Amino acid sequence: MVWDQTDRQECLSYINHRRLETKLSEKDIDALLHETREFPPSDSFKLQANISNEAVYERALENREAFWESWAEELDWETKWTSVLEWTPPNARWFIDGKINVSYNCLDRHLETRGDKKAIIWEGEPGEVRTFTYRELHAEVSRFASALLKLRVEPGDRVAIYMPLIPEAVVAMLACARIGAVHSVVFGGFSSDALSDRINDAQAKVLITATTGYRRGNLVALKKLSDNAISNTPSIAHVVVVARHEEDRSTEMKEGRDHWYDEIMKDADPKCDAIPLDSEHMLFTLYTSGTTGKPKGIVHTTGGYLTGVYATTKWVFDLKEDDVYWCTADIGWVTGHSYVVYGPLSNGATVFLYEGAPDWPERDRMWSLVEKHKVTIFYTAPTAIRAFMKWGRQLPQSHDLSSLRLLGSVGEPINPEAWIWYHENIGGGRCPVVDTWWQTETGMIMITPLPGIVATKPGSATRAFPGIETAILNEAGERVDVGGGYLAITSPWPAMLRGIYGDPERFEKQYWSKWKGIYFTGDGARRDEEGYFWLLGRVDDVMNVAGHRIGTMEVESALVDHPAVAEAAVVGIGHEIKGTGIAAFVIVKESRKEESMRDPKAFESELKAHVVQKIGAIARPEKILITVELPKTRSGKIMRRLLRDIAEGRALGDVTTLADPTVVASLKERYEEQE
Ligand code: WT7
Repeated sequence: MVWDQTDRQECLSYINHRRLETKLSEKDIDALLHETREFPPSDSFKLQANISNEAVYERALENREAFWESWAEELDWETKWTSVLEWTPPNARWFIDGKINVSYNCLDRHLETRGDKKAIIWEGEPGEVRTFTYRELHAEVSRFASALLKLRVEPGDRVAIYMPLIPEAVVAMLACARIGAVHSVVFGGFSSDALSDRINDAQAKVLITATTGYRRGNLVALKKLSDNAISNTPSIAHVVVVARHEEDRSTEMKEGRDHWYDEIMKDADPKCDAIPLDSEHMLFTLYTSGTTGKPKGIVHTTGGYLTGVYATTKWVFDLKEDDVYWCTADIGWVTGHSYVVYGPLSNGATVFLYEGAPDWPERDRMWSLVEKHKVTIFYTAPTAIRAFMKWGRQLPQSHDLSSLRLLGSVGEPINPEAWIWYHENIGGGRCPVVDTWWQTETGMIMITPLPGIVATKPGSATRAFPGIETAILNEAGERVDVGGGYLAITSPWPAMLRGIYGDPERFEKQYWSKWKGIYFTGDGARRDEEGYFWLLGRVDDVMNVAGHRIGTMEVESALVDHPAVAEAAVVGIGHEIKGTGIAAFVIVKESRKEESMRDPKAFESELKAHVVQKIGAIARPEKILITVELPKTRSGKIMRRLLRDIAEGRALGDVTTLADPTVVASLKERYEEQE
């Protein structure tokens, strides 16, 4: 369906007038509004698809609980549930009284039929390959679970995991799940400060790490970073260390606290039965950025979460017995939890893992991996696709990518140009592209095409998964059938977050207070005449930098932590590859002004390095602007919208609510000077 000019104008003006202020650039929004191409599923794909009957949507809608119950029945439960759902907003309980173990469902239940099937094929950045059959992975996980028990890890205890993408990271997650310990994976690219904050918030008892991990030929000293982190985390009693190399054996170990992974494995009981756990037992917490300076621990539980990721993996990726499935996410993000580990392994899939960077040693590494390991399903982020585009089509063209049969996208809005490039140059025009919208909080994919049913449109995540109810609402909470507004989820779903670790108030306020009993996603979106959803980016103080979620306040706190900084304001600005880049406006303390201004470039680098040290390289600001004042409303709120206009070099919008409108003009002038 073509969106006519008046609708377009209306949607644009709605967005431009900031009744809906999203983080997407106007250029990107305009591209989405112009898009009219459609790609229906091919007959050949449809014929072989796991699901090709449109009626599933209707069936799920008629009885949502029965729909999810039928999925839960495909898993192995120790004790069946007595009822499907108890919903007292915002608190949900799924599969009540059911007892189940996630690790059992990812390993033990496959042993009979898939014991010799490869569960994991791993390639390290330097090129070494290791594989685990389901039987081998089961043995490794069982042994490590025993080792954790020996370290007195009990059900409900939190275990932090700070590792490179090596098989032991997956083993660690599954071993925790096996004994009911709650894992808290911290992305290996985060700083030691970020790690200690997360450990302290969760009061983790054990930390599992590695000596080092590879990144573009360099070794990241994870053990050293861990040592720094735990110098102020009193809750940590034990540290388990995987030696990434034999040479790493010289790493300093603290007697009684630090244990080599392989040594405790040697002494551990090879047998460790999976403990049946309550369906609502906490499976993991995962920290993600919000609108305050402090990341929040999103809580996911067992039965509903597994049901949700199992179902979506099977239908969205059309997963088959002989697929080689590659989701490029790190296990430090929710995509790694749900679609590297739990979704595919509960389906008995062969999962490919790659430790390193996509441009190492050459920019065709991904395509040489697809060719070498005969990958059939490939799931990555738009930011990666935009980088591939920039590197040129010759790179994928010089490899045999004919094994691929389905492509996925996740993490940020995909611009139609990138979608088409991906479809043509990676998918050879024959692979369906599934653009999947979801969040750390939703646990599972929520809006996505079902590739055997739904015609895709470049830039649209299309429709809600069957059994999921999403809607566009306006500020008052009224439904917008066609047009732009806030994306909301109007009924509970099995993998939904159960809370924010240790902060029920923030949970309620953050997600459930805008409209009663309705989940607020923080995203803006548009719904077209055919009911397709087009995501337009965040509407809150959260940035999506290269598919990673970072709070503006988080970066501001990191800057203000620098001894020379009095005040800071951070905004997201358009970035060709990353989607969003970070720009920071900084006021220097009077006492430090002279000193810092002696070499402004060096000072800027110092501030950038400070943010990297506080958070991690993913939060490094693109631009820093030193200023003497910041535009504020009369009530003292920083007007980020104006800062964004300035940083992106746009004409200034409405400044009438400013306490001092001249601040903006002078700021703009100075910024242009510095450019
Ligand atoms: C935010 C959630 C879900 C796993 C990775 C990110 C944005 C995610 C899409 C998509 C447009 C998307 C949203 C969302 N987002 N997927 N397909 N199209 N936007 O998880 O770190 O929790 O971030 O990522 O803004 O709110 P996350």
